[in-house]
Amino acid sequence: MAAHPDVMDKLVSLCKRRGFIFQSSEIYGGTGSVWDYGPLGVELKRNIKEHWWQSMVRRDDVVGIDAAILMHPRTWEASGHVGGFVDPLVDCKTCKGRFRADKLEDARCPQKPSKQPGQHDACQLTEPRQFNLMFKTFMGPLEESAATVYLRPETAQGIFVNFLNVQQSTRQKVPFGIAQIGKAFRNEITPGNFIFRTREFEQMEMQFFVEPGTDMEWFEQWKAARMAWHLGLGLSPERLHFHQHTAQELAHYARAAFDVQFDFGGTLGFQEIEGIHNRSDFDLTQHQQFSGKKLEYFDQPNNKRYVPYVVETSVGADRVTLATLVNAYREEAVEGEDEGRVVLGLAPFLAPIKAAVFPLTKKDGQPEMARRIQDDLRGAMAVDYDETGSIGKRYRRQDEVGTPFCITVDPQSTGDDTVTVRERDSLAQERVGASQLKGYLLGKLAG
Ligand code: GAP
Repeated sequence: MAAHPDVMDKLVSLCKRRGFIFQSSEIYGGTGSVWDYGPLGVELKRNIKEHWWQSMVRRDDVVGIDAAILMHPRTWEASGHVGGFVDPLVDCKTCKGRFRADKLEDARCPQKPSKQPGQHDACQLTEPRQFNLMFKTFMGPLEESAATVYLRPETAQGIFVNFLNVQQSTRQKVPFGIAQIGKAFRNEITPGNFIFRTREFEQMEMQFFVEPGTDMEWFEQWKAARMAWHLGLGLSPERLHFHQHTAQELAHYARAAFDVQFDFGGTLGFQEIEGIHNRSDFDLTQHQQFSGKKLEYFDQPNNKRYVPYVVETSVGADRVTLATLVNAYREEAVEGEDEGRVVLGLAPFLAPIKAAVFPLTKKDGQPEMARRIQDDLRGAMAVDYDETGSIGKRYRRQDEVGTPFCITVDPQSTGDDTVTVRERDSLAQERVGASQLKGYLLGKLAG
């Protein structure tokens, strides 16, 4: 199978030009590997998060929470992050570059990019030292060690420490899950590839609490459900696969783990977008020990107590946003036109703008009618209005941000109250009554 092309540079440029994603604090020269979502990017990412929430939480056996980013410091001792959330780091005394000692083959020597760090004669790499990826900060006015807290490196721990609060307040019975969407922070040594690996990112995580012994069965169920979710986003099946963790790859808490990987194209290729882990009773047992509080479940019908096992699904909202953009980006020729077009073929439910309304000319009541249509649609969907430039240029502007429908008000419209609806992918045009337009578009979007 032909490799998927590398579209990353083109996407970075499109995302900035059209207001999807900007580098954080750009006017100050930017903050390393931190990104801001612009008006279109925030809509796309919200649509992805909403789709996740609908599929994970709108079921009887999963409830949502929104836990704080700052947690008691003991949380991170119990979870193993203080002692073990480390990457081996080497410095180059010559170029002052910093690299992950276990990923040198993926890095380039800044002075001789054809070689990896350590292979150029001038390189002077230090011995590896362990570098903890958690960001530290201080709680309260005194910068003393007693007040050191961490920015959470995963949202999962906010769920574990609330296990009993949620179970008792909702009267959920095992098996059940707790889900949340929230920011996480990691001081990555080698961030990069746009929003693929960043220092501040959003996770969508769900911990499913099950009776020990039933964990592998649930693990298989969640694996299948999560792959179906990615396919439901419109990601191409041939760009998705599972990667099973080997014994060496397994995280300290995991009994079994599979990553959902997506093919980002070019040299990046297949990379993790989601992890599905069987975490056994590791986390709840650790928190019991460190807090001194019992975190057991009482199974009343069977009159037994146990610490549940946990099947976790953990997906990055930013990585999935990048995957949908990479998957959707295409350049194509247009019949009868010299210039081709760039299209973001996003699934319509993900598109930041669902419809754009254009008056063909700025006279004869066309702008007024187009504005009325925009107002009418606004309550039901994100809708844009554009009266600048040729119709062809306006179509191109919408194509490259993924708008599925463009509506044109022309001289006929003001006479018979009809408009043309042009579909982004097929380019087919249909004449639709203005009063039926909302229902027509909602039907197409739902389909
Ligand atoms: N609670 C388990 C956990 O955090 P993980 O594999 O370290 O597992 C889960 O992270 C997901 O979070 C990854 O599949 C990825 O989508 C996202 N993620 C992790 N680190 C990231 C980073 N530095 N930048 C962007 N997304 C990241």
